[in-house]
Amino acid sequence: MEKKVDSCSPTCVLEDFFKSEEFERSHSCKEQPNTDSANEQNSKQGSRWRGFARSFRTKSKKSLANLQSFGSFRLSSRSSSMRENVSVAPDFLAESSRKVFALSELQTATKNFSRENLVGKGGYAEVYKGRLPNGQLVAIKRLTKGTPDEIIGDFLSELGIMAHVNHPNTAKLIGYGIEGGMHLVLELSPNGSLASLLYGSKEKLTWGIRFKIALGTAEGLRYLHEGCKRRIIHRDIKAANILLTKDFDPQICDFGLAKWLPEQWTHHTVSKFEGTFGYLAPEYLMHGIVDEKTDVFAFGVLLLELVTGRRALDYSQQSLVLWAKPLLKKNDIRELIDPALGEDYSIQQVNLVLLAASMCIHQSSIRRPQMNQVIQLLKGNPNGLKSKRKCRVPFFTKAFHEET
Ligand SMILES: Nc1ncnc2c1ncn2[C@@H]1O[C@H](COP(=O)(O)OP(=O)(O)O)[C@@H](O)[C@H]1O
Ligand SMILES: [Mg+2]
Repeated sequence: MEKKVDSCSPTCVLEDFFKSEEFERSHSCKEQPNTDSANEQNSKQGSRWRGFARSFRTKSKKSLANLQSFGSFRLSSRSSSMRENVSVAPDFLAESSRKVFALSELQTATKNFSRENLVGKGGYAEVYKGRLPNGQLVAIKRLTKGTPDEIIGDFLSELGIMAHVNHPNTAKLIGYGIEGGMHLVLELSPNGSLASLLYGSKEKLTWGIRFKIALGTAEGLRYLHEGCKRRIIHRDIKAANILLTKDFDPQICDFGLAKWLPEQWTHHTVSKFEGTFGYLAPEYLMHGIVDEKTDVFAFGVLLLELVTGRRALDYSQQSLVLWAKPLLKKNDIRELIDPALGEDYSIQQVNLVLLAASMCIHQSSIRRPQMNQVIQLLKGNPNGLKSKRKCRVPFFTKAFHEET
């Protein structure tokens, strides 16, 4: 249902924006690969973006609470797509359970954003635990980093992506608030992030839970790459961006850097360097190349963290990948496995996870598997692996040819 809106309401401004080529470009990487003219184009787009953000801010002053009447905004269609053409966030807009929150509601829910309710802090935001009047527990992500224009840009980008995704292994958006700052309201994950449990908690995660997290995160990533209506590259897969439900089901969160990639593109090249050290694929570090394999590499690092209990980058800045590679080559499970697990793990599952990790962190992106192949591997089915005969990874033999 389309709604008529006041010509200068924030709703209208956002509606115009979501319809605009600007939104399409900012989300779907439609800029040219990294040539001089593309760079010039990018900087023009950047200034248009800032222009939009400015206009959004000025026009928003009137009635900030009107945003629930977004209406339906269609993006321009892609030329060749296996997925349907979609309206921006139709599920988000249609679901009455998703709402726009007034600042006073967010303040009441979080006891005025009190420190005791601060449950997380990332590079871009502070996240507060809150309780809605109906008793529901929520996480309120308040964007804090950057100029006001940048914050609005980051907010719209994350909102646009989150509104699209709907999978058991992705974080759930309940609503948003734009009074007194940019806020995303999410379902609260009672067990926090994987990073907080793996590194911050005295109770060590059992192997069973670690394996469940590996498989669930792989499912979530496969959904983003292949299963949802648009091809999404997350670009910041890491332990701090995996939330855990009360049953320790993993949910991918933090879509602040996520990009839509047009179907027909092999990859996208970025000039602005973003992401997290320790998880960055070599071709991204060296050439700014972004595609599904960027996420696959980061997922490989995450698998290593689950097995070893070590951080992607430790306090002395040592890279887990560089530490683990020679051990993977020697098939040295004893050295690799987290001592906190003792003997309490399934050796076959550990072999499968290490095999998947070895492949995901391959130097060459084309040699890395796709997420659907990773899932087959983790499930103990090597058939999806085209080059399995030639596979020289020692864990391959361990995982598939030896009885345990
Ligand atoms: N829904 C949630 N439930 C519980 N904790 C959350 C939730 N969302 C985020 N957090 C916590 O807040 C941290 C920062 O959130 P994130 O979205 O990653 O922000 P940033 O974009 O700044 O990195 C996460 O690492 C996690 O610990
Ligand atoms: Mg984060």
